Amino acid sequence: MTPSHLGPAEQLFSAEAVQAAIQRMAVAINADLEPLVPHRPVVVMTVLSGAIVVVGQLLPLLHFPLHLDCVQVSRYGDKTRGGDLLWRLTPREPILDATVLLVDDILDEGITLLALQDYCREQGAAAVHTAVMVRKERPRAREVPVDYVGLEVPDRFVFGYGLDARGLGRNAPGIFALIEEDAHG
Ligand code: IMP
Ligand code: MG
Repeated sequence: MTPSHLGPAEQLFSAEAVQAAIQRMAVAINADLEPLVPHRPVVVMTVLSGAIVVVGQLLPLLHFPLHLDCVQVSRYGDKTRGGDLLWRLTPREPILDATVLLVDDILDEGITLLALQDYCREQGAAAVHTAVMVRKERPRAREVPVDYVGLEVPDRFVFGYGLDARGLGRNAPGIFALIEEDAHG
């Protein structure tokens, strides 16, 4: 099914392929974080709104006690540096001495994720792990450390499985790329 209301689009990954990727991430996360649980709490930090779907599917696959929290941030603009986040929802769970697992839908430029990683460390997290459902294959001004990557996508605008295109398409069952009408070649 191609969500035609968003214009021409191409399916990059089926829902089954995304689910399989999330399962692989869960195996790796369980292996890394489960041994840490006796020593300190784990807080899964959902980066709203895009990570809702991946977190919803990931959570039942994690086999250790965890706290769930959410953050929602925007950037002021392209020139914004790390700390300058516009907070729409701040975390509720204390993360002092906790292991934080940041979960986001996509690693694009990575500025937001870098800033969130910094924020968690400033708040005293003992360790910060980062998981993204998809990573865009593109150059980045700064290296963004990510521990768990579900799938790699080309440097195109993608939607589905939580990712939106102009506010729509988060419910699309798979990962789709918009086909730019005016693209050449
Ligand atoms: P950045 O990494 O700070 O550049 O911003 C990443 C955020 O932009 C992601 O969390 C998404 O919300 C959004 N984003 C980036 N690329 C895409 C895309 O291809 N589709 C949908 N949202 C995207
Ligand atoms: Mg996002």
